Amino acid sequence: MSLVQAYDPVLLISEEGKRYLVFVEPGGSWYTNRGRLPYDEIIGLPFGRVSETHLGQKFLILRPTTSDLIQYMKRATQIIYPKDAARLVFELDLMDGKRIIEAGTGSGGLTLAFARAVMPTGRVFSYELRSEHQQVARRNLERLGLLPYVDLKLRDIADGFDETDVDAVFLDARDAAKFIPLAEAALAESGMFAALQPTVNQVSEVVRALEEGNFVEIRVEEVLIRSWKPVPERLRPADRMIAHTGFLIFARKLDARFRSFWLDKRARRRAMEFGKIKNLPSIQGR
Ligand SMILES: C[S@@+](CC[C@H](N)C(=O)[O-])C[C@H]1O[C@@H](n2cnc3c(N)ncnc32)[C@H](O)[C@@H]1O
Repeated sequence: MSLVQAYDPVLLISEEGKRYLVFVEPGGSWYTNRGRLPYDEIIGLPFGRVSETHLGQKFLILRPTTSDLIQYMKRATQIIYPKDAARLVFELDLMDGKRIIEAGTGSGGLTLAFARAVMPTGRVFSYELRSEHQQVARRNLERLGLLPYVDLKLRDIADGFDETDVDAVFLDARDAAKFIPLAEAALAESGMFAALQPTVNQVSEVVRALEEGNFVEIRVEEVLIRSWKPVPERLRPADRMIAHTGFLIFARKLDARFRSFWLDKRARRRAMEFGKIKNLPSIQGR
């Protein structure tokens, strides 16, 4: 049985389904217009129990998931949506021991997902321009015990990254295209690159910059999740969905000596699509 420990993050869900994230500090209380809930009454309870405010309002106590933490932690900026964060962790191939550069830190939503993926022996190097954003991220990460796995750096990434030979670089900053050469310099051979950009013109610029650099396997994706109302006798999609968050661009750094292999292959495929060639010539160097 999993018990609520002092300082744990706890998800409180009201009877109407409203969700709140709190950190249960001994001696403290959660104050709401539904009454006061002393944290000492929650600490020691098994997750999954119900607790009541002094006004008799009931709240379900759950252990928050990574997705809950991203959505309900304190924000100073637009944050990554869990659907995009999950895709990034998977496609950047993050696991224990990996080293990843991220910019900008923002509120630390994605940083927390990355840190959870690469801990305990990996590391996230997270760059941020604005100190007020970094402070919010620092507090969020500290409360989750994730600071030992993250280096928070206050810096315009235009001034470059300190690290080299990293396994992955992720950019969530305006004008990401400008920083592709810096990302390439920091990445290990065959390292993974990703960026999130909100508009298609920004995506075009990033793709162009990747093509000009030593990157292959360039992909552009959008993650759409359509929720359904889980009512067995009237099962149907929910009325609303989050239609657009951003485009995800993925690529992989390749040693310049082998890039021609990739270009040859693409050029050949394009030529075939347009009916210019019927039979494939053999690929040089394959
Ligand atoms: C959309 S927010 C990132 C949100 C973050 N992924 C999260 O989930 O909380 C973008 C952040 O990038 C920072 N930023 C923008 N340009 C930057 C640059 N050139 N160098 C460092 N940080 C930058 C902004 O200050 C902002 O905090």
